[in-house]
Amino acid sequence: MDFDDVVLRRHSSRMFLPDKPVPQELLQEALILAMRAPSNSNVQPWRVFLASGARRVRLGAALAKQVRTTPPPNLGLPDSHSHLRRELGALLYGAMGVARDDSEGRWTAQLRNWDFFHAPVAGIVCMHRDLGLPDAIGVGMFLQTLLLALTERGLDSCVQVSTALYPDVVREQLDIPDELTVLCGICIGYADPAFPANSINTPRNPVTANVVFLED
Ligand SMILES: Cc1cc2nc3c(=O)[nH]c(=O)nc-3n(C[C@H](O)[C@H](O)[C@H](O)COP(=O)(O)O)c2cc1C
Repeated sequence: MDFDDVVLRRHSSRMFLPDKPVPQELLQEALILAMRAPSNSNVQPWRVFLASGARRVRLGAALAKQVRTTPPPNLGLPDSHSHLRRELGALLYGAMGVARDDSEGRWTAQLRNWDFFHAPVAGIVCMHRDLGLPDAIGVGMFLQTLLLALTERGLDSCVQVSTALYPDVVREQLDIPDELTVLCGICIGYADPAFPANSINTPRNPVTANVVFLED
């Protein structure tokens, strides 16, 4: 696949085929490439815990139990940006056929976050607690490289902040040491082609909305 096609093809999938496993060699290849990501002082700050098989099942079950007893904190965006979440929600729920006032339908869809959208490989991405913002940029570089390498291999993915909302549960389930900060989750697998929200194309700003060119 041409590089531009890989970038354009990568998108977040929110329903995976649970019984279609991720070939280990493809995952390894993508991870080896992602390790080439740049980072501050070559710290390579990303620490990734990937669960499949029985561990994956236990992780999903523990999160599902937790989310039902302790609803997730509202990770609202600041007022200046909250309209963007509403716009994405309208796009996603619209594609899923969930009406704006259907709070039960929305909650059912949200709950899939905590089962990693049924992905056969469920991951948690961490960074050492002593590291800071420049190192978090490095983790982001690793993640995007990983997502692109997975896309090139025909695999689908979704990065998630939602699963990181229960750091104690994921720590316990994946034996994550205390010195690591839990940053986000990642789902890896093959997207369910029958799920309409998997084929939405999220819009982007024009470059000029985000980039300033200065010449004098
Ligand atoms: C750090 C980060 C956290 C995210 N958290 C979630 C999440 O918790 N649940 C979810 O459904 N999507 C999540 N996403 C996916 C974004 O909503 C998605 O990347 C964005 O809407 C752009 O769509 P695209 O990835 O399909 O291009 C997250 C993405 C990133 C990079």
